[in-house]
Amino acid sequence: MKITEYISGLRENIHLAREQGKIIVLIPTMGHLHYGHLSMVENARKDDGDREKVYIIMSIFVNPLQFGENEDFDRYPRNLVRDSRLAQEAGVDMLFVPSVQEMYPDGQSLTTINVSRISEILCGSKRPGHFQGVATIVNKLFNIVLPDIAYFGQKDYQQFIVINKMVKDLNILVQLIAFPTVREQDGLAMSSRNSYLSSEERQQAPIIYQSLREGAVLITEGETDPDVIITTIKDRISKGSKGKIEYVEVRNAHNLERFEKIEGTVVISLAVWFGSTRLIDNILLEA
Ligand code: PAF
Repeated sequence: MKITEYISGLRENIHLAREQGKIIVLIPTMGHLHYGHLSMVENARKDDGDREKVYIIMSIFVNPLQFGENEDFDRYPRNLVRDSRLAQEAGVDMLFVPSVQEMYPDGQSLTTINVSRISEILCGSKRPGHFQGVATIVNKLFNIVLPDIAYFGQKDYQQFIVINKMVKDLNILVQLIAFPTVREQDGLAMSSRNSYLSSEERQQAPIIYQSLREGAVLITEGETDPDVIITTIKDRISKGSKGKIEYVEVRNAHNLERFEKIEGTVVISLAVWFGSTRLIDNILLEA
C-alpha cells in the first residue's frame, strides 16, 4: 500500500492504475477506521484477489468544513499509524491523507457545494452547514480522483442522499454504492464516535437499533401513521436509557420527504445524544 499526503502524488498513481486498465474505487473516510470502513474495502476487492482489476483509494481527512463551531473537530480521533495498518491489511492500494493545507490551500474555500432542501432537514437542521461541508469535500475528492466507483456507509443515510443528488445534479460520472451499516453484536452501528461513549452509555446505546427495529416491525405489520412510529421509538429510548433524543423521523427513502401515510420505501432515521456523544442510525424498509 502506498501513502501520500499530496494530490499530485495521488494523481500520478491513479494515472498508472488507469493505464493498467484498473477500475478506480474511492472510499472517503475521516479515519479511526472500524470494520464498517474495512468491509467496504473487502467488498470492493471481492472478485479481485490478485489485485489486477481494481485500484482502491481510501482517503482519511477530518474535514473542518463539515464541523460546526462547537462540534468535535478537535477531539475527533486521529491515529494514522493504526489506520494505515488496518487499511493495508484490508487491501487498500493507496491511502490519501492530505493536510488541511493541501485540501484548502487558500484557507477558506470560496466555492462550496450546497445541495439545497435535503441538506436542511433531519441532521442538517441541527448542524447548519454540515452537508455543505460534506458535499464540498466529496466533490473535491471526486475531482481529484475521478473514481469509477465510490463507497459511502448507509449509516449516514442523509449524507448518501445528498451526495447522490449532487452527483445527479452536476452530472458527475461515478457509480455510488451505499454500503449497508455494519453493527456490533448488540446492534449498535459501528461509528468512529462510539469511542467517545462511557461504559454506561455504551451499554445503553444498543437501544437505538432495538427501537428502530420495533418501528420497522410496526410498519411491516401495517401501521401507516408516522406519528405512531415516532412516538413508539421515542418512548422506547427515553424509558430505556438516558439518551436525549434530537430527532426521530419517518421519511420517503428516495427524496427524504415526510409521509402523511407511510408507503413505499421508507427510512426511519434518528439522532440521539448519549452524554456529549451524538449518535445517528437508520433503518430502511419497504412498507
Ligand atoms: O462520512 C464521512 O466519514 C465523511 O462525512 C466523508 C464522506 C468522508 C466526508 O468528509
